[in-house]
Amino acid sequence: MDSLSSSAIAANKLVKYYWEKKGFLKPTIKKVEALRGVSFRVEWGIIYGLLGPNGAGKTTTVKILATLLEPDSGEAFVAGYSTTREPLEVRKRIGVMLSVERGFFWRLTGRENLKYFGMLYGLSSRVLEERVEELIELLGLRELGADKKKFEDMSLGMKARLGLARALLKDPPVLLLDEPTLGLDPPSARYIRRLLRELVSQGKTILVTTHNMFEAETLCDRVGIIHRGEIIAEGSPRELKKRVAKKLSILLRLVGSYRVTEELSRWVSSRNSVSSRVVERDRAIELRVVADRAESEQLLAVLVKAAVDRGLKVIESRVEEPTLEDVFIELTGGGSVSKEYSES
Ligand SMILES: Nc1ncnc2c1ncn2[C@@H]1O[C@H](COP(=O)(O)OP(=O)(O)O)[C@@H](O)[C@H]1O
Ligand SMILES: [Mg+2]
Repeated sequence: MDSLSSSAIAANKLVKYYWEKKGFLKPTIKKVEALRGVSFRVEWGIIYGLLGPNGAGKTTTVKILATLLEPDSGEAFVAGYSTTREPLEVRKRIGVMLSVERGFFWRLTGRENLKYFGMLYGLSSRVLEERVEELIELLGLRELGADKKKFEDMSLGMKARLGLARALLKDPPVLLLDEPTLGLDPPSARYIRRLLRELVSQGKTILVTTHNMFEAETLCDRVGIIHRGEIIAEGSPRELKKRVAKKLSILLRLVGSYRVTEELSRWVSSRNSVSSRVVERDRAIELRVVADRAESEQLLAVLVKAAVDRGLKVIESRVEEPTLEDVFIELTGGGSVSKEYSES
């Protein structure tokens, strides 16, 4: 037990159900198993990434850690305190960012919003003044003019920075951030990632969720891959990639029918027993196939021909070293997924 409470964050066999009402005239209640026994530890002073597709259970996990939801079974500790038995102790030690646009006052400026929440969090007025100005500086809100701009007029990038500033108001040791770069343009996302690294180098511990494989790979010290309410793999990005060290990744960028590409993906998977998946990215369709090193060059040629035969236009084709995305494809067997996966 003691290791559960000595880690910055410890989730132990978390289970969470939702009851979803379906239908209007004859409603039925459907049980959704959002978490099916999620366990992981986050040691102090690192960025831990919870990586998974839409619906995997990331937000539910963050809400439980943030004491906003109670698990149906299992338990969680943050900074050594139980989220269900000692929620006030937990709240004193966390900064939370749930969604970029949530809970701010649209008619107030960035500075006014921060002051309001600072008061709400019980900061004394002297500390508050100083802290707000410090955060406006740290998050580059002044250089963007976001300190004087009304929330409703802010870009998503500004809102994300303000959300982080709010999470930092109490100077908490642990940050819980649910998809903080979701929907941001690449420079804004990069800015946020740099800032998170900076905060960790100053001693913060950060749990961040993402569906962006690239982000998990470049930002996080450790990654837990969550899929359908379960952690299916865990380790540093490098450790995770070792799982596919004997493989290469074949990438085809295509223009044409998504459905036909899915069919091609199924065809190659069953013919060669390899994992593959289809993603829409940057206005093209990407087919990724994870294959043994020895057969990848030949398989690439087969795939290009098969794509052309099906009326798809091949705009790029190559074989590359596997990424975290390929680990995910191997672990889940691939299949096609929505654009939710694509890099944001
Ligand atoms: N309030 C809710 N009512 C019913 N089902 C929900 C609710 N919130 C989430 N879910 C379902 O629980 C699962 C996990 O959701 P969530 O934790 O939001 O995943 P993620 O953040 O990884 O996208 C999904 O299947 C989702 O549809
Ligand atoms: Mg979510």
